[in-house]
Amino acid sequence: MTDNTPVLEIEDLSVVYASRDGFVKAVEDVNLVVHKHEIVGLIGESGSGKSTMAYAVMRLLKGDAIVTKGSIRILGQDVYTLSRRELRKFRWTQMAMVFQSAMSALNPVLSVENQIVDTLLAHKPGMSKRAALERSEELMDLVRIDRKYLKSYPHELSGGMRQRVVIAIAIALNPALVIMDEPTTALDVVVQRTILDEIQRIQDQAGFAILFVSHDFSLVAELADRVAIMYAGRLVEVAPSRLLNLGDVHHPYTEGLLRAIPELTGDHVTIQGIKGHPPDLVNLPSGCAFHPRCPSAVDVCRVARPVATHVGDKLIECHLFRREEAVEHGSGSAG
Ligand SMILES: Nc1ncnc2c1ncn2[C@@H]1O[C@H](COP(=O)(O)OP(=O)(O)O)[C@@H](O)[C@H]1O
Ligand SMILES: [Mg+2]
Repeated sequence: MTDNTPVLEIEDLSVVYASRDGFVKAVEDVNLVVHKHEIVGLIGESGSGKSTMAYAVMRLLKGDAIVTKGSIRILGQDVYTLSRRELRKFRWTQMAMVFQSAMSALNPVLSVENQIVDTLLAHKPGMSKRAALERSEELMDLVRIDRKYLKSYPHELSGGMRQRVVIAIAIALNPALVIMDEPTTALDVVVQRTILDEIQRIQDQAGFAILFVSHDFSLVAELADRVAIMYAGRLVEVAPSRLLNLGDVHHPYTEGLLRAIPELTGDHVTIQGIKGHPPDLVNLPSGCAFHPRCPSAVDVCRVARPVATHVGDKLIECHLFRREEAVEHGSGSAG
């Protein structure tokens, strides 16, 4: 059950990387709201800016990244006005992140128990060791790993179990928002499916909001309440998952993604991809960045950037939709 309290509010966010070739426009003019209890999927091809956006929210961007404009608020608190000390406290207690590689998120020389207990005690100085141990057991139950593995070291666990431990640590302090950046991409398909079921079940119980980042369209559509489609650093469409059907109107890029999902027609599997390649983020195409690949492009697409427009419950950034309906920024929520 989602309610309308915003947990994450991203407003007009742009992030560039200073590179030898020029500025890489990794995230541009992004507006997105994630509500309490909501799962929002962030989808896009590799290199479209998803991780940059996720790291920007956590204020974990690397040194060569520059937030050129915009703001990020979590439960009303601007993440970029926090002092370093406040930020350290804010992470894990209000926002947590699960990365693609569980192995790199875990400390190889600490037992599972010690890692969970350390995280708890580091952020809750008043907590007793005993309460931390009890919470560790509770968390193992929550992610459905036998408590006996509390004594194990990361290398003694399977990939799926390691990722469950990482999830347990992320939710240990009941954050309002958990960002998951391709959390199952490194796992095999069967394990991936069970972890997704677990994420859904745990989220249902614990009630945090999730921003779930993935390049896998069908996976996210199934898990998320809403999806945000990223192309060349911009959100070209934000839509409720239930409206992700080919019969509905969509951004031409979303349409291409929908067509690329393997379709079972009798015993044939047809896959129709999107022609061409994602653009160079240093030298973006003029107008709409998708126009060189867009089957519906018209003259205006080459010269002017489209404005996000409400189309029913969706927000679409495309000239094909009437300009009079164009909305001002700040309404990334299409719900
Ligand atoms: N440290 C960096 N320096 C320069 N460019 C970078 C850096 N990190 C990422 N990029 C570029 O920013 C763009 C977005 O990357 P990323 O956010 O990782 O995309 P995604 O997560 O969607 O694959 C890509 O073009 C990538 O090459
Ligand atoms: Mg990424």
